[in-house]
Parts: sequence; structure tokens; C-alpha cells
Amino acid sequence: MPQLRSVVLGVGAYLPQKTLTNDELAKLVDTSDAWIVQRTGIKERHIAAEGETTSMLGEMAARDALANAGIAADDIDLIVVATSTPDWTFPSTATQIQAALGITHGVAFDLQAVCSGFVFAVATAEKFLRSGSHKRALVIGAETFSRIIDWTDRTTCVLFGDGAGAMVLEAQPSQGGADERGVLTTHLRSDGRHRAKLHVDGGPSATQTVGHLRMEGKEVFRFAVGQVTDVVKDAFAATGLTPEDLDWFVPHQANRRIIDMSAQKLGIAPEKTIATVHLHGNTSAASVPLALAVASADGRIKRGDLVMLEAVGGGFTWGSALIRW
Ligand code: ACO
Repeated sequence: MPQLRSVVLGVGAYLPQKTLTNDELAKLVDTSDAWIVQRTGIKERHIAAEGETTSMLGEMAARDALANAGIAADDIDLIVVATSTPDWTFPSTATQIQAALGITHGVAFDLQAVCSGFVFAVATAEKFLRSGSHKRALVIGAETFSRIIDWTDRTTCVLFGDGAGAMVLEAQPSQGGADERGVLTTHLRSDGRHRAKLHVDGGPSATQTVGHLRMEGKEVFRFAVGQVTDVVKDAFAATGLTPEDLDWFVPHQANRRIIDMSAQKLGIAPEKTIATVHLHGNTSAASVPLALAVASADGRIKRGDLVMLEAVGGGFTWGSALIRW
């Protein structure tokens, strides 16, 4: 039966100019390049310049994605921004980006699911487009985690970085087949009982401060590898597709060991896994679209490929999106 499906028109990314290598970090805290690479795979991260905000990174990624899609900003009528590090408590980062792009129609709003934010935003935008209410969406993940990191805590400061990624989706008619382009299925989960394992110890209502990121690393690791694969299995079950059908697995870029162990657990071949965590560290909601932009630009992800997005973040939240590119 004819229906609407959200088709990827383009992706884009932006990383701040300034880089911070593991060796430079070793001058700030008691750590080493060898420890960080062995435990996480991260080699460097990018840090936003003074005055450079999340919306500025998001705007740059959005412009890159619009150019890649070959459409004008004015063609967009829906902007969903996933971020946990907004410029301001309000108004939303999405409306800042909307204004910066010169868009005065349509709707723009933020969504907060920490590191799962981009997958949640794709799922949300996809439902808007499929309903016929909107035609073209900019889905953005943008973060400046450097602003909420405790730079004296070596157990967290080595892991994170700043950046942004974006995707343009367009509602197009489809017969509903798994071989037709577009978002095939999305699966989201959350379980708020895990709050303490990964959180920020400040906020406007609780402390009237911004706060710092706190994490029980081992617990997060265990959850990320142990639990999160259920949403990927749900995506395969919903479509009748299998790990063998997959061309690319694009998980949240938090830690190389989590990425490899998740792929192994799901029976996804290592050569189908996209990992860019060495280039930018964990950029939270920006990590999946950053990885997509890299793999699309270097020619790995091509039109017609079957691509599985997966992410996990604070809450906990976790989700998957299966896309025929
Ligand atoms: N440099 C050197 N030593 C360190 C550092 C560091 N940066 N950080 C911790 N250590 C030390 C610890 O103090 C400990 O020393 P001890 O044995 O003397 O007590 C030792 O290294 C081992 O620490 P562990 O915490 O056991 O190290 P582990 O192997 O678990 O690795 C890590 C820690 C990398 C944080 C891991 O637990 C992890 O990746 N967890 C997942 C966290 C994550 O990816 N979070 C991202 C956000 S959540 C998300 O996006 C899903």
C-alpha cells in the first residue's frame, strides 16, 4: 500500500578546529596515551573555542548536510536537535539554529536523550514525516561536552569531545518494501532507574548550576554491551532482515571496545562496523551522525545500502534505526 517514508537526502558534520590529544591530556591529569587508546580507542578529541556554542556547531553541520543533500535551508520545515548541552536553558538550541539558517517557517525543537539523542531524533522526525505533517527535516546532534566535564577527573575527561552531525530526511512515497529507500524501522527504550550511573550533578531546577558529568564507567560499560543489543534485534525482527543483510553498523561512538563487543554479540562482521571514535572521542548525540558523515564522504556508505544505527546514553536511554540509504 502506498505510504510515506523518510529518505536520507544527505548528511554533514562539523568538528571544532582545536584538537586535544591524549598526550596533551596527560599534562592535565594522571593518564597516558597508552591507557586511553587501550581502554577506549580514542586518540584525540575536538574542543569548542571560547564563545563557540552548541548551536554554532549544529549550524555548521546543518549547512554541510544541506549542501550534501543539494537543497536550500528554506526547503526545511522541521528541525529536531538532540543535545544535552544547549546554549541556554531556553530558548531551545533548535530555534537558535533555525534563526541562524534564516528559516522562519515550520517548527524547531530540542530533544534530550543524552548519547541516544540522535537516534531518538531520527525516530521522532521520521514519525512527523511519515504522518504527512511535514516534508523535509533537519535532524541534528550537537554537543559541547567540554563545558560539563570535570577536567580534574581522569575517569571521565579523557572520554568526551565536542562536535555536531546532521542528516536531511525527506518524506517520499513508498510501497513499504525493505528494498526501498528510507527509514525502515526504529526502536527506542529507556529505563530511568539507572540515573545515578551516568548523570550531570547540576541543573536549573535542582541546583541552579550547570554541573559536571559523573559516571560509573564499569556499570555503563556492562549495560552498553549487555543490554542494548535488544533494540537491534527488534529492528531485525520487525523487518525480517538479518545481520547478514546489513551493509553497515553505525553504533554510538563512545568506546572502541563497546563498539566491537556489541557487533560481535550481534553477529555483525567487524568489517561492516563504522568506528570513528579515535578521531573525536565520545561526542554524545553528535557521534552517530559524525560517523555517518565520515563513512558517507569516504564512499563506504552508498545509496541502497542497509545501515543500522544504534546508541545508548544516560537515563538509561537506548535505541536503533534501520535505514535503507
Ligand atoms: N588514565 C589512567 N588510569 C585511569 C584512568 C585514566 N584516564 N581512568 C581510570 N584509571 C585507572 C583507575 O583509577 C583504575 O585504577 P586502580 O586499578 O588503581 O583503581 C584503573 O585505571 C582501572 O579503572 P577501571 O575503571 O576499572 O577501568 P576500565 O577498564 O573499566 O575502563 C572506562 C574505564 C574506559 C571508563 C570503561 O569503564 C568504559 O569505557 N566505560 C564505559 C563508559 C563510556 O563509554 N561512557 C560514555 C558515556 S556513556 C555512553 O555514551 C553510553
